[in-house]
Amino acid sequence: MNSNQSTDKPNIFTLGPLEAGPACCDPQPAIQVRDLSLLYDGMIALDKVTLDIYQGCITALIGPSGCGKTSFLSAINRLTDLIPGCNVTGKILVHNQDIHHPDTHAQTLRRQVGMVFQKPTPFPLSIRRNLSLPLNEHGITQKAEIAAIIEQVLRDVGLWDEVHDRQDVSALSLSGGQQQRLCIARALALQPKILLMDEPCSALDPLASGVVEDLICRLRGRYTIVIVTHNLAQARRIANYAAFFWVSGRAGQLIEFGRCQHIFESPSHELTAAYVNGARG
Ligand SMILES: Nc1ncnc2c1ncn2[C@@H]1O[C@H](COP(=O)(O)OP(=O)(O)OP(=O)(O)O)[C@@H](O)[C@H]1O
Ligand SMILES: [Mg+2]
Repeated sequence: MNSNQSTDKPNIFTLGPLEAGPACCDPQPAIQVRDLSLLYDGMIALDKVTLDIYQGCITALIGPSGCGKTSFLSAINRLTDLIPGCNVTGKILVHNQDIHHPDTHAQTLRRQVGMVFQKPTPFPLSIRRNLSLPLNEHGITQKAEIAAIIEQVLRDVGLWDEVHDRQDVSALSLSGGQQQRLCIARALALQPKILLMDEPCSALDPLASGVVEDLICRLRGRYTIVIVTHNLAQARRIANYAAFFWVSGRAGQLIEFGRCQHIFESPSHELTAAYVNGARG
């Protein structure tokens, strides 16, 4: 769909000419997590989590504060390697490749598995440099190629019309919502297959949150998306699958995983029912 063809929404919601991805109806696992446990300084934060994340789908991770959602995301692209005292056991396969195999390099993995954080984290550099820096770090140095990628990803996140004529201004001069879309563009620039998003809308006002949510929906199919959100209405609106985590003592556990509709309308576990109905958490 072309942004110019969209007439039912005001301009602020108009995103770039992103092609809709294939329907998420016959999913294959993109990430296979088996018996994942995670400890910080010997204290357990995640206890034996086993879960498949399906390719091209949006999977929402929900659950109360401290149940290990961020830790789970961090384990998938091995950001946990960077945390002193953090110990991960169990197996994670990303597109059938064991991420802990000695032949798997963290930098290569992180190119495949992009991450977007709760608070927009643009570098204190120009808009253009925010996007070209990661490309340079991954060996892409040709100016024309970099300019083409920058235009493409800015169009993908609906920022091109807003910033194409001021790419050399500081990224910090953008609004919060624009900064978050720039961070998503930065993740997309490296052409990942998987996007991990840790509460990407929680620092945004409702309008900017709506724009980012719209964008995430339009990335479905082209990317496998795992999104942490405390906004249950948002999870329900955008996700195909939901995983409900709970914390018992200090150990986060996966209580239930399934189709979003199942988790919200007819959950199998009473804790899930209580949480999605707002009784606990
Ligand atoms: N770097 C760290 N060092 C020590 N403990 C940590 C670290 N990061 C997280 N923890 C602990 O691990 C547990 C899980 O934290 P995590 O941030 O993964 O939870 P969460 O579900 O993302 O919570 P929230 O919804 O508040 O973001 C918590 O008890 C937390 O205190
Ligand atoms: Mg968190």
